[in-house]
Amino acid sequence: MDKFVIRGGNPLSGTVRVSGAKNSALPCMAAAILTEDEVILENVPQVRDIETERRLLVAMGAEVELGYGRAQHRTTISCRTLSDPEAKYEIVKTMRASSLVLGPLVARAGMARVAMPGGCAIGGRPIDLHIKGLEKMGAIIVQEHGYLEARADRLRGAHLVFDKITVTGTEDLLMAAVLAEGETLMENCAREPEVGDLAALLTAMGARIEGAGTSTIRVQGVPRLHGARHRIHPDRIEAGTFLVAGAITGGDLTVANCNPAHLGALIAKLEEAGARVDIPGPDTVRVRAGRLCAADISTKEYPGFPTDMQAQYMALATQAEGVSVIKENIFENRFMHVQELVRMGANIKVDGPSASVHGPARLSAAAVMCSDLRASASLVLAALVAEGESILDRVYHMDRGYERIEEKLRGAGAQIRRMGNIFTPKEE
Ligand code: EPZ
Repeated sequence: MDKFVIRGGNPLSGTVRVSGAKNSALPCMAAAILTEDEVILENVPQVRDIETERRLLVAMGAEVELGYGRAQHRTTISCRTLSDPEAKYEIVKTMRASSLVLGPLVARAGMARVAMPGGCAIGGRPIDLHIKGLEKMGAIIVQEHGYLEARADRLRGAHLVFDKITVTGTEDLLMAAVLAEGETLMENCAREPEVGDLAALLTAMGARIEGAGTSTIRVQGVPRLHGARHRIHPDRIEAGTFLVAGAITGGDLTVANCNPAHLGALIAKLEEAGARVDIPGPDTVRVRAGRLCAADISTKEYPGFPTDMQAQYMALATQAEGVSVIKENIFENRFMHVQELVRMGANIKVDGPSASVHGPARLSAAAVMCSDLRASASLVLAALVAEGESILDRVYHMDRGYERIEEKLRGAGAQIRRMGNIFTPKEE
């Protein structure tokens, strides 16, 4: 298994470029199911989850070409024939977002067979709200042998009110609604920018959508959609991870090719914690060292403080003067990184959904284990300031959502290298 070897102590400087958003590319790839025509996606990150999504679609009969060389961030998808509208367990078990094909398959093919996503490191993560919404639109859904079987001649528009704000739930039902008969009104929707990015693609495919990015979305169903070309927006979580890297290492780092407007909650918190943050351009944020002081966070749906930045922020809090209280409100088990940070010398006390981080702590290098995507990022950040050489195991978790992170960090002055090489994008 791949490992990262990181020697701490170097302040990061210069510029890092952000890739396209994994959490936007995944639903946009699933949206290609909704048409027989070709869908071309630009700025698709070369990460493991995209490769998994490609396998998922190909197993259904789609043609998916992940570009390489100069076109390496272009993906061309054709779902002209969907010979087997099934999301197989072997694939779904490696990536929960596979359930995003449920709505599009029922809408386009009138049936879907999707493996139920099992448990996940960060929480139970049921998809009951996806199912409830589809049933409200007229789908008949049975659960058998670990699979959901959903059928509908044609989905009907409906009034959907989410009991809880769900990102992929909103995306899945939005994709179901665009081909449904009549109007669908969706309330208490997720406002994450990825929902808006998906809606931009669907609209380019001929869908009629109003209000994406707000908590109320209205959809007029249409009989069919056509092909389109769409550029995936920048990854705000990758951008946030680099901003924390600049602040925690006491550096001067410019994060380019990002969207500062998507980073409001994080930037405000970094400033509150003593870092200097500037926005020199429409797609650039610069972070400079400051005397770090404790600041509490409480994760919330967008535009609140993102749960996907909680672990990275905790690493920063270990270096801040005082006690930072970190409250995780979205997932019930998202503190897997705590014990690994404590192994490096951090002083963190967990009490249910809250963690109290006492700082500053002198971190010393250690062998640590990555457990999920964002927990891995937190360990990389801690290792960048720890004294000595840390060894991070199971970095395949990181490869799921960060494109060539070790090269990008090395370009900014970090001492990081990968041992082993099991995930290399295709070269020309
Ligand atoms: C998306 O997951 C992201 N994944 C996650 O990013 C992110 O952490 C999460 O949204 C929250 O922002 C993708 O976009 C692919 P939810 P999702 O449905 O949609 C509960 C990363 O690190 N819920 O918004 O699966 C659920 O258990 C990943 O890149 C139900 O109860 O999250 C959770 O407590 C990790 N029933 C809450 O809602 C449902 O049917 C929010 O989850 C659906 C969700």
